[in-house]
Amino acid sequence: MKAYWYDNEAGDQREPHDSGRTVHPTYLQKLGVLYYHLSDEEDVNKLAADRSYKNRDVITVSPERMGDIYEEKVKSFFHEHLHEDEEIRYIRGGAGFFDVRSEGDEWLRIFLEKDDLIVLPAGIYHRFTTDANNYVQAMRLFKEEPKWTPLNRGPEVDANPFRKEYLQGRPAIAPQ
Ligand code: LAC
Ligand code: NI
Repeated sequence: MKAYWYDNEAGDQREPHDSGRTVHPTYLQKLGVLYYHLSDEEDVNKLAADRSYKNRDVITVSPERMGDIYEEKVKSFFHEHLHEDEEIRYIRGGAGFFDVRSEGDEWLRIFLEKDDLIVLPAGIYHRFTTDANNYVQAMRLFKEEPKWTPLNRGPEVDANPFRKEYLQGRPAIAPQ
């Protein structure tokens, strides 16, 4: 894992876009973003039990797996959106970037590789992309029914109760 401020330069979303300014992990915590490095899947099972993640699946995002729709999918993941539930991703192979909005509405970029697990809180604006290697395999964990509908940023979604609750400051649970 590596977190840094996005450089906002033009160019493919899959390039690093590293401004060279590092983001300290405690700042992620402040945003309600939880990060873990778990090389033992038993620890994932424990986390899932603690946080009531009852279900999971594994997805592979790559041109080999997705065929012609790959480029379209990768672009759609990169549209700024939020969800009404946590987004939990445990990287099993390859790599990807999660961009999340800071308190000042700047993009910060989180580079994730194998064994990195991230929890994005409900209501945080974010986007995702593979890196230049165009391959990521991730376990998706969820509580009951997956609530993966992306709600794209706009005036209506700005007024969404989950967005408001997020901005009012959800209790961020510190990583163990
Ligand atoms: C998701 C990523 C793209 O919602 O944020 O699956
Ligand atoms: Ni999302």
